[in-house]
Amino acid sequence: MTNPDPLLEMRNLAVTFPVDDGPDVRAVESVDLTLHEGEVHGLVGESGSGKSVTARAILQLLDDARVTASELTFESVNLLTQSEEEMRSVRGAEIGMIFQDSLSALNPVMTVGEQIAEVVRHHTNTGESTGTLSELRRKYVTGTDETSASWERSVELLDMVGIPDASTRANEYPHQLSGGQRQRVMIAQALAGDPSIIIADEPTTALDVTVEADILAELRDLCDDFDVSVLLITHDLGVVAETCDRVTVMYSGSVMEKGLTDSIFTHPSHPYTEGLLQSIPEYSLISNDSELQTTPGSAPDPRDRPNGCPFRDRCPIAFDACSEPLPTHSITDDHIIRCHDYARDRTEDVSSKYQETQEIEVSE
Ligand SMILES: Nc1ncnc2c1ncn2[C@@H]1O[C@H](COP(=O)(O)OP(=O)(O)OP(=O)(O)O)[C@@H](O)[C@H]1O
Ligand SMILES: [Mg+2]
Repeated sequence: MTNPDPLLEMRNLAVTFPVDDGPDVRAVESVDLTLHEGEVHGLVGESGSGKSVTARAILQLLDDARVTASELTFESVNLLTQSEEEMRSVRGAEIGMIFQDSLSALNPVMTVGEQIAEVVRHHTNTGESTGTLSELRRKYVTGTDETSASWERSVELLDMVGIPDASTRANEYPHQLSGGQRQRVMIAQALAGDPSIIIADEPTTALDVTVEADILAELRDLCDDFDVSVLLITHDLGVVAETCDRVTVMYSGSVMEKGLTDSIFTHPSHPYTEGLLQSIPEYSLISNDSELQTTPGSAPDPRDRPNGCPFRDRCPIAFDACSEPLPTHSITDDHIIRCHDYARDRTEDVSSKYQETQEIEVSE
């Protein structure tokens, strides 16, 4: 199968937080990730595995960290060498963001309509002035003219993300909306700059299950309509199964396995991924309790990680070679595993077994 063009390419991403009086925190050690056009790509892993740090590294939002990569490109532009000013126009216009905590992400003293209209003005061509004085006047004195293109677009976006009576609700402040509605506002705001990519970091974790399902379905539909690709960070494998085309599984700062969602769910090959999937009863993919609960034990301290595979102290099949640097093996063109066991002498060829069982369906 041929993959659609990559929008975002990341090779060997490493992020370290220097600490004055102790060892540095090696939050991310080795992440390769490719976001293809038109896809929703899930980034999963238990708490502390480095998902949010990876997202913030893409957007250069980590002032206090050392970020290195052999490649970090968006539409072939090297993000690592962009100035802060250039990155400001990437954020919002090219790459939209949705965070988990909408109350702190939204401005409490601006109406939601104003906040979206401002993004529309700054990142699309409405012809309205975006000078500091004009924006301050709108913010503190007049508000955005309700007949302007940016306000009309703001109301249209609120309507599209499912806010009822959008033209009235646009005049409300974040605290006047429910948690689910605020997440919808964040989606509208992320779409307002007409981006190619949206990075959504746990966008529905704080919501109840039915609201979460509605919002994810909405996000998926909107991305199809707006032709946006999504990097969806989540703890929840049920969300991945429902929403994502492709998935990358992280553990303790490194990618362990990645591939098409169907392949990962039908042929989990890394012991860590197998543990994650076994934590979902009968692979029941729409579970109310599908938070990641994995193999017993906990992840190593990122200030003092053992050599080799970071999972080896918890891994049921660890052996001597696991203290060597992690290898990368391609099971198929679309399924990669980083595990020493894969290359171990085996009585059966996993790759051919994989081919034979390609047809197995994931139970729903
Ligand atoms: N500013 C910082 N300074 C030092 N360490 C940090 C900083 N930000 C994150 N870390 C560390 O980096 C590691 C990865 O954190 P990150 O927030 O990316 O995890 P995560 O996978 O997003 O977890 P969660 O699912 O809980 O959101 C953690 O050990 C965390 O403590
Ligand atoms: Mg996080």
